Amino acid sequence: MPEAVVAITGASGSVYAERLLRALSEAEWDVLLIVTREGAINLDLELDMTPDDLAEIPGISLENNDNLAARSASGSAKIDHYVVCPASGTTIGKIAAGISDNLVTRSALVALKERRPLIVVPREAPYATVHLENMTKLSNWGVVVLPASPGFYHGPQSIADLVDFVVARILDQMGIEHSLGQRWTGEEVQ
Ligand SMILES: Cc1cc2nc3c(=O)[nH]c(=O)nc-3n(C[C@H](O)[C@H](O)[C@H](O)COP(=O)(O)O)c2cc1C
Repeated sequence: MPEAVVAITGASGSVYAERLLRALSEAEWDVLLIVTREGAINLDLELDMTPDDLAEIPGISLENNDNLAARSASGSAKIDHYVVCPASGTTIGKIAAGISDNLVTRSALVALKERRPLIVVPREAPYATVHLENMTKLSNWGVVVLPASPGFYHGPQSIADLVDFVVARILDQMGIEHSLGQRWTGEEVQ
């Protein structure tokens, strides 16, 4: 089975992570899930869910963000993809500074040092210059910075459609086939 690390940090937008976890489960990926303290606060506020609730999705195993001896902290664990979704400015700043003080930042640093695919999904508005500089750093190092910015050209009818738009872009980056949303055909504008 392909395997991903998915980290939920304390930015708003935990619904993106929940949808992503369900899609990865449907695609039969194994997922090591890490949730920061503020990530759990937003999960509760926004979805009335706990990290344990998410761990009930098939294929999802919850790891403790304080446990730097967990599997996702090790470069020898063969993880295919690392996704920080949603990614707080704090976690992005720590990754950009090479700080690995919890399991989320440690696993992201493992992705960087092992040259493995890392996607960060920031949600902040407006951005401070330091956010932009940190994201530029990560992008220059090969990290995919994929903001939680849904498009509207596909005629979304619901919040779920907007969420799917962003999650579809993440799955595209991971090379996972999916049926979330419609792909642009080029015939929409006559
Ligand atoms: C309710 C709530 C909403 C927040 N929303 C955001 C946000 O959208 N984007 C962001 O970068 N930080 C946001 N924060 C701030 C982060 O949670 C804070 O920077 C925290 O230190 C992030 O730590 P973490 O990256 O370890 O989760 C929010 C905090 C709270 C309590």
